[in-house]
Amino acid sequence: MSEKLHPVSIEVNGHRREAQVPARLSLVDFLRDELRLTGTHVGCEHGICGACSVMLDGEPVRSCLMYTVQANGHKVTTVEGLAKADGSLSDLQDSFCETHGLQCGYCTSGMLIAAQALLNSNPHPSEEQIRDAIGGNLCRCTGYQQIVEAVKLAAGRTK
Ligand code: FES
Ligand code: FES
Repeated sequence: MSEKLHPVSIEVNGHRREAQVPARLSLVDFLRDELRLTGTHVGCEHGICGACSVMLDGEPVRSCLMYTVQANGHKVTTVEGLAKADGSLSDLQDSFCETHGLQCGYCTSGMLIAAQALLNSNPHPSEEQIRDAIGGNLCRCTGYQQIVEAVKLAAGRTK
């Protein structure tokens, strides 16, 4: 017997996407496998590492812990949606490059989402607020210092 499908309509990075999905399809699998937005990474698949972070209506969420049907009617922003309209890097992405805020890059899309969500709500955060905002995102490479520097640099560039 084939699995029942459910209609969803989700705004992803400013574009409305309609699909028929199984009830148990995770949001991260939908983004990566159906929409080919592979900038969102899959790490632990149980809510610990933060690699799969995306914004849901502006708030960072773990897309491995959400079903696609739960995003129906909502706005999702992935790391691909952070770039400027002309496709160039955002100030935050640029700052990560400048301060060497990444090495292997596995955590980077999740870090960018967590940091951008912070800067959207608080354009000039303290170091403590930056560390708190990225506290749910694990990085095995950088020791976090350059990531914090990147967010500070991006905040300094915000008018
Ligand atoms: S893959 Fe989602 S939190 Fe690790
Ligand atoms: S840069 Fe490698 S896990 Fe963060």
